[in-house]
Amino acid sequence: ERISLNFDKTFDFISKDSIFSYKEAIENHNRALFNKTGKGNDFLGWTNLPTSISEAELADYEATAAKLVSKDIDIFVVIGIGGSYLGSKAVVDALSDSFAHLKTRKNPFILFAGQNISEDYLFELRELLKTKEYAMAVISKSGTTTEPALAFRLLKQDIEDKYGKAEANERIVAITDASKGALRSLATIEGYKTFVIPDDVGGRYSVLTPVGLLAIAVAGFDIRALVQGAVDMEKATGVDVPFEENLSAQYAAVRNELYKSGKKVEILVNYNPKLHFFAEWWKQLYGESEGKESKGIFPAAVDFSSDLHSMGQYIQEGERTLFETVLSVASPDREVRIPTDTADLDGLNFLAGKRVDEVNKMAELGTMLAHVDGGVPNIQIVLPKLNEYFLGQLIQFFEVACGLSGYTLGVNPFDQPGVEAYKKNMFALLEKPGYEEATKAIKKRL
Ligand code: PA5
Repeated sequence: ERISLNFDKTFDFISKDSIFSYKEAIENHNRALFNKTGKGNDFLGWTNLPTSISEAELADYEATAAKLVSKDIDIFVVIGIGGSYLGSKAVVDALSDSFAHLKTRKNPFILFAGQNISEDYLFELRELLKTKEYAMAVISKSGTTTEPALAFRLLKQDIEDKYGKAEANERIVAITDASKGALRSLATIEGYKTFVIPDDVGGRYSVLTPVGLLAIAVAGFDIRALVQGAVDMEKATGVDVPFEENLSAQYAAVRNELYKSGKKVEILVNYNPKLHFFAEWWKQLYGESEGKESKGIFPAAVDFSSDLHSMGQYIQEGERTLFETVLSVASPDREVRIPTDTADLDGLNFLAGKRVDEVNKMAELGTMLAHVDGGVPNIQIVLPKLNEYFLGQLIQFFEVACGLSGYTLGVNPFDQPGVEAYKKNMFALLEKPGYEEATKAIKKRL
């Protein structure tokens, strides 16, 4: 069984023919992706990553996770930012009980650090960790990113103070480049367990490397099923798959044609709040891959029906530059039926006997029709269930589509030159050694 894609509700805005006119170009882009001949081709390791993950690697992630869990930890802290953070956060949230943090669990709760520079966040996290048993992973491909390095400097001292250096070192896993960067040297000196992020896999495409898989395994989820879903999607979108059968190719074509027709903002919609951080992962994937050279769709996200009572107004009647991609989960995991109430004071007896999901689904259908009527084209992606296997499919589906979409737009989807600008200013303002000239120049502007 596969996830499915439906773009009928874009045909009032763009023609089916115009979408299929991308066939030849996108099939060429797909060959450039999978044969690793396209732009940014030193970062195309993720295309066949799922089928290249070995049994030994999976067993190592599982064994490392089991060893950490066997220390009876309450919390596993993942230190990382961007692609070193959002993949595991997305998958763990999508699969977790909504109230896992307040319930008794077999596996530790996953918390994150180094994904911001908030002093309050770090203070409060450190206070919490004083009262809990914990272990941590520090993740940085470059090994030099300021946010996680700063968080790790603090948390490393705390964990050493709490457990003593030898035991602390048993509780720290470092995930970084095979040889480069400060984190690699530090891990070697301290003797941490380490995992390598492959050279040819960029941060936002790295969820199926140890960057994502270790934390997902620590949280107690089935990384084999996740990888299997990605393997099946890798095959279903691979080099020789024709446009008519390739869901990633079709999604890339539809969104590029919508963009050309003036739809500059894509909103990823969910009707299950567990997918909130999946949308954050997707925003990073598409925003960082396509937003360059003064072009690219702006990726946004909403959680419905919550946001129908806030952003719903804008989507229905604001600027007509939007389209929506709805992530729909066909069947929920749990069952809640609406009871009959003899007094019926709330007037809801017309729903009695129905499942809550039926109401959610009618909200979804009604919203899609209303938004299309209001001038917002809708794409729908259906996951049969919210589980590891279909999430694995969805991840690979979106990654391939992102590569194809970026190539169609004419950009390199695998670099991110624009993220350096803020760093330069921040280092100049902080008077980092080596930035003396930049410091002088920036201070004149203040
Ligand atoms: O997608 C990317 O390359 C970025 O978002 C990185 O993942 C992010 O900047 C973190 O980089 P690093 O893992 O080198 O600390």
